[in-house]
Amino acid sequence: MDVFETAYLRATAYRADVANQKVRPHQGYAEMRDRFAAPLPETGSPDSAVIEELADLGEPGLMHTTHPRFFGWVLGGSSPVGVAADWLASAWGQNAVMHTTSPTAAAVEETAAGWLLDILDLPRTSAVGFVSGATIGSFTALAAARGELLRRHGWDVEAHGLFGAPQVHVFVGDDLHTSVLSALRYLGFGNQRLIRVDTDAQGRMRVDDLARKCASATGAKLIIAQAGQINTGAFDPFLAIAEIAKDNEAWLHVDGAFGLWARADPDLCGLTKGVERADSWVVDGHKWLQVPFDSGYAIVRDAQALQNAMAISASYLPAQGPGDRLPSFLVPELSRRARGLPTWAALKSLGRSGVIQMVRDHCALARQIARGMQATPGIQVMNDVVLNQIILRFGHDDDGTQRRKAYAIGVIDHLVQEGLIFVSGGLWRGEWVMRISVICGATSVQDANIATEAIRAAWMHISASLPSDQVATR
Ligand SMILES: Cc1ncc(COP(=O)(O)O)c(C=O)c1O
Repeated sequence: MDVFETAYLRATAYRADVANQKVRPHQGYAEMRDRFAAPLPETGSPDSAVIEELADLGEPGLMHTTHPRFFGWVLGGSSPVGVAADWLASAWGQNAVMHTTSPTAAAVEETAAGWLLDILDLPRTSAVGFVSGATIGSFTALAAARGELLRRHGWDVEAHGLFGAPQVHVFVGDDLHTSVLSALRYLGFGNQRLIRVDTDAQGRMRVDDLARKCASATGAKLIIAQAGQINTGAFDPFLAIAEIAKDNEAWLHVDGAFGLWARADPDLCGLTKGVERADSWVVDGHKWLQVPFDSGYAIVRDAQALQNAMAISASYLPAQGPGDRLPSFLVPELSRRARGLPTWAALKSLGRSGVIQMVRDHCALARQIARGMQATPGIQVMNDVVLNQIILRFGHDDDGTQRRKAYAIGVIDHLVQEGLIFVSGGLWRGEWVMRISVICGATSVQDANIATEAIRAAWMHISASLPSDQVATR
């Protein structure tokens, strides 16, 4: 059998059946290591047999992120059209490095970039780099920020590096996503030197604190805000932050890995008011747009600043012609897959109205689940559910933090083992919480109902069965 057909049949059989599976992997990491452990083969095997074996070995260890009741972390559901376009990107063997290696990849990126700026309503002349995700997207955009801020202060970082450079003061909200810390670290902005700005109960930056801290620093300033806090889904007050950025001649970057998609929906875009005044943004395709991994977008208003940071040249690479968009001038990588293809396909398939509907539906489902939870004694919804994220506390005030943590862990473990839904946990304001993210394209009202009932039942079970002296041990 043809190897492509084998992969096609295995992939489609998997997708057709995924909703009938337990959401969690059937086997864990240790078992999967044993399954795959083998010495390097001395001789080859037929291609189709290799793919059959890979699928046989691998399927038991798959986390079913495409399952309609996968609510873990914040991960999109790899839509069929995105996956199919990704297959083409691989099958065509295109390298998106430049328009001579793949005129198609370069041209598709150009159109998809325009569509992204349109649907997100960001400045239409911004540059868009197709990157692997929001972490590298922030790295990419912040490299542009670093170069431009230092250039304004008389320093060419591309030529002279960071040793001896003027200081850049970096302001971040206390509840920023940890990936931004990584991006900053890669760029030489050590985490201990960041200026942390106080946040409110939802994780939004306090503008009075930002204004005060900005005023007490002199020199180059970089402010990083976020659209969609990882736990609460909250949005920083961009209008006020943009004013502060203007007054301080600061570069304003926005991490909108999932939350920036709220901008597509006229009903929700008020949450993002003022975000368009930023200098750079990052948003994922592999979250709300349902593009398969890996897909993110680094968007920079000053296209030249991005190009200064990322451009790569050699005699064997093409020079930039007037109006040319050289894909490798916008991202850190040289060789890379044609990431524009699945983005183009996802936007073409959904259209503006489809994106709006999906985002709106997911937020409505999140509110529906939150209402159900709020009505259950002993469960507290800890955030204002303004978007698709819900965080839940289990137990009463007089249970104490450690016992409530034991409850939360118990409920999460019970649900994951049962396999009807998948949820994850985390710490919020010192409290161990269950985190629910409604972001998989396949999730329906019925799935939200099943989730609500499953969480309620798990809570009843754990609260009745947890020994009275048991507290959390992890
Ligand atoms: C707010 C936020 N920023 C950044 C990231 C990192 O995104 P990625 O995993 O695509 O690099 C995430 C991931 O969940 C996120 O939620």
